[in-house]
Amino acid sequence: MLDPAELDAADPLTFAKARFQLPDGVIYLDGNSLGALPSSTTDRLRLTSEREWGENLIASWITAGWIDWPRQIAERIAPLVGASPDELLVCDSTSINLFKLAMAACALRPERKIILSEAGNFPTDLYMLQSVADLAGLTLRAVPRAELRSALDETVALVALTQVDYRSGERHDMAGLNSAAHGAGALTLWDLSHGAGVLAVDLSRSGADFAVGCGYKYLNGGPGAPAFLFVRRDLQGCCANPLPGWFGHSSPFDFDANYRPAAGIGRFQTGTPSILAMAALDEGLKSFDGVAIADVEAKAGRLGDLFIESVGDCLSLASPMDASIRGGHVVFGHDHAYAIVQAAIERGVIGDFRAPNLARFGFAPLYLSYSDVARAGAIVRDVVLSGVWREARFAERKAVT
Ligand SMILES: Cc1ncc(COP(=O)(O)O)c(C=O)c1O
Repeated sequence: MLDPAELDAADPLTFAKARFQLPDGVIYLDGNSLGALPSSTTDRLRLTSEREWGENLIASWITAGWIDWPRQIAERIAPLVGASPDELLVCDSTSINLFKLAMAACALRPERKIILSEAGNFPTDLYMLQSVADLAGLTLRAVPRAELRSALDETVALVALTQVDYRSGERHDMAGLNSAAHGAGALTLWDLSHGAGVLAVDLSRSGADFAVGCGYKYLNGGPGAPAFLFVRRDLQGCCANPLPGWFGHSSPFDFDANYRPAAGIGRFQTGTPSILAMAALDEGLKSFDGVAIADVEAKAGRLGDLFIESVGDCLSLASPMDASIRGGHVVFGHDHAYAIVQAAIERGVIGDFRAPNLARFGFAPLYLSYSDVARAGAIVRDVVLSGVWREARFAERKAVT
């Protein structure tokens, strides 16, 4: 049995919890969906709005450096995902970035007609890949996870996958799949939404070609935060942005009627960055200052193990038992998962429900202690065994993202 007090005493990340503001009486196990509010974000938003925007007005593009933020904020993400700063850019949403990079990647393999993905991929990924396929005259093949490798052949242009499954929490072997895809002559595009900020992702060492990821989950950038994109350095010069806006032009302020892409990663910008949202993301990323991402991954695994152990056998685990192939969340299957999650929320444990029957709980290592998670597991167990979830009010479904 894991001892939460002993684990807390040995935790190298305890200092980070004070960087966040969470309501009293709440154990927040949904940071995999929307990260918690960093304590410094409201002051940062006040600074950017009152001083930079309110007083300095348009000069702030230069004086506050707004113009450089898409590249500068990406520098904070680089050590979390194992990339060089010049391979990353903060812009747009995950969906839009996925579209841009999938189009760019497929154009590099014009003779190949298949985009390969997984049938259980996150819906927005499948919608975007289908649209790319339609626009580029390709076919999207979304196969079960177990068939991915056998589906790789000389017809596949791009393998586009989500590193950590949003439902089961199961991780793909990124390095193995990159190598298999390259062996078949295909390129790879990874959605890191459920990995960035909780796992020690290593885009460069694993040999990834392209990647995108979310700013509002483990990166704590706030609701609707800008996303990020990654393009391997040696591919940048031969890739075209299919949404070529003026911010991706080599000289946007020449107002040139002809598009000339910026050198390097900058060409993947499209329009004007959302500066207030960028400020919040920058502040959210500061919560990783002085933090080793390997410690974050190790703690996420142990928090998940502890929760599984605390919930015990009253719910059936639908995530891998082995933390080394899990991301930062775990799910349990139950016919009444929705009602159980609602009843747990009423008792201060915030998780979420994923259709059709999953209760999902995420473990953001920067603001959760082992004691929090053991307590949350005991509360969920009590909710299930007491049968409180059978009360009619918990059965009513509300739309919550
Ligand atoms: C795997 C994955 N990709 C993408 C998204 C969302 O992308 P967007 O930033 O476009 O809303 C999510 C949201 O939960 C997700 O889980």
